Amino acid sequence: MLTGMREILEIADKCGCAIPAFNVYNGETAMGIFKAAEEANACIIVQMYSRLFMSDEAEFIAPAIVEAAHRSKCKIAFHLDHGSCDEAVFRAIKYGCSSVMRDASALPFEDNIAVIKNVTYFAHDLGIDVEAELGHIGLAKDGVPTDYTKVEEAVRFYAETGVDALAVAVGTAHGHYKQDPVLAIDRIRALYDAVPAALVLHGGSGVPDDQIQAAVEAGIRKINFGTDVCLAFLDGVREVDSSIVGVDIFMKEPIQRVKNFAHEKIRLLGAEGSNA
Ligand code: 13P
Repeated sequence: MLTGMREILEIADKCGCAIPAFNVYNGETAMGIFKAAEEANACIIVQMYSRLFMSDEAEFIAPAIVEAAHRSKCKIAFHLDHGSCDEAVFRAIKYGCSSVMRDASALPFEDNIAVIKNVTYFAHDLGIDVEAELGHIGLAKDGVPTDYTKVEEAVRFYAETGVDALAVAVGTAHGHYKQDPVLAIDRIRALYDAVPAALVLHGGSGVPDDQIQAAVEAGIRKINFGTDVCLAFLDGVREVDSSIVGVDIFMKEPIQRVKNFAHEKIRLLGAEGSNA
């Protein structure tokens, strides 16, 4: 059933696991993710980037996701990822998201607080949970920033904004890494002890399994996977017999690849059976 992100992340905290948040890009990637959740009896977060909510695609994909979430036996949050402006937040809510991320992490600290305070003010009134980002998590191709989120700043940010989830800079970046990242596990632990918001790790693709497990152990409760969803799907597309013309038949293998990838990550994060 369509569920708030906060409720799902509270379940994760009780279990000591993390919930995977999979970026989806079309009906087929969404289908693979939903199938994995059912198979693993897991709570999951299905999310789409701001650019999708700002495009025509949202009109087709978002209603399908909302309907599938309502029908699912699993608790599914539908989430806006990296909302780049308030309009993206409005559109995500209009399209049925149960939570939104508004990303103002590139702004100075006080301005980030001001933007997020405004979003939590109206989103919470509508029953929508909010994620923000503190400490900018950039692109892996530009190198992984070592300017980690500061505990004192996170404490003040939470107190002023009341966000439900907080994405933190602790050694990851978006996209594939040039070399294996080394996460700041002690900083994650210190943030977890000090900040009541659920901690979010962005840039999950390509992070070694042992690092992921250490991050969950230290208190990360949501982990985002985007690039590897695309690669699982595209690897499937590239291997399908190109003489197949029925597009629905052609797409069966890519959907299966996404499902297998997602199930593996659900297991890795300890979220299998979290819907029980
Ligand atoms: P990756 O593409 O590196 O998995 O990052 C996804 C992400 O963090 C989306 O917000």
